[in-house]
Amino acid sequence: MPGEGRGLGPWHFDAHAEIYDRARPDYPAALWKRLWEFGLLRCGVRVVELGAGTGLATGPMLQAGAAVTAVEPGQGLAGRLQRRWPEASVIIDRAETAPLPSAAFDLAVAATAIHWFDLDVVLPRIHRALVTDGHFAVWRHVFGDPSAVATPFRQRIAEIVARRGDLTPPRRPADFDTEAWVRRLTGSGHFVAAHVERFSWTIELSADQIHDLFTTFSDWTAAEVDEAARAVHTLGGHILEHYVTPLIILKRAAAPGTATT
Ligand SMILES: C[S@@+](CC[C@H](N)C(=O)[O-])C[C@H]1O[C@@H](n2cnc3c(N)ncnc32)[C@H](O)[C@@H]1O
Repeated sequence: MPGEGRGLGPWHFDAHAEIYDRARPDYPAALWKRLWEFGLLRCGVRVVELGAGTGLATGPMLQAGAAVTAVEPGQGLAGRLQRRWPEASVIIDRAETAPLPSAAFDLAVAATAIHWFDLDVVLPRIHRALVTDGHFAVWRHVFGDPSAVATPFRQRIAEIVARRGDLTPPRRPADFDTEAWVRRLTGSGHFVAAHVERFSWTIELSADQIHDLFTTFSDWTAAEVDEAARAVHTLGGHILEHYVTPLIILKRAAAPGTATT
């Protein structure tokens, strides 16, 4: 039945915390370099990271010398993050309700998490939590670069997805529609766009790695994940995936609706 096994929503990640931890690929080095070049990530900078998961983005920020407050509602994910990165301040809560002090952070970050937030609630909260000249950096992995050549594996994935039929379409912009995300994130006037960039990258994955990675996707059922992994086997055991990580850097507006770029 279409949609079966797809019911956990944002709790999907916590239910698969161990697999999530080993399966999700790192963010591109070029993205970290860009944040450093813009002076957003440097020693002593105070970061609040929303939807931090197991700390895939938290770790490199701590290693760059930032002080990171990591907000994560999943107990299992947050526990893993805290064990691996004891220097992070972890708040087990949602972005909509986490107690955040006012004007306490230079940078807010959402790494592959923005699509889970109620932005009408969260954007004003981030605006309050940031210092006057603070920034909000939003990025995410898009697993399957729509602008890349369609590989045989991606054709198999498209067939699996097409079989789902009439699942309720998402209410948010599509993963790869970065311009729509920029409009969504700036529409309330709390933030203005400062920089938008896409980092394209490739990764070779085995059938087991595909099985782990696709298990972490909240909209994939166990049967679909098995089918994706079988497809890798039939294609020789390893496949090359083309992924893209769009980065949106937003600058805090002086007051909603008053800032200019
Ligand atoms: C795809 S994971 C990304 C985790 C991590 N940032 C990373 O880069 O690997 C999405 C994360 O958002 C968290 N999340 C979902 N809804 C949330 C909310 N309302 N507030 C804060 N975090 C949320 C999930 O628990 C999960 O850890």
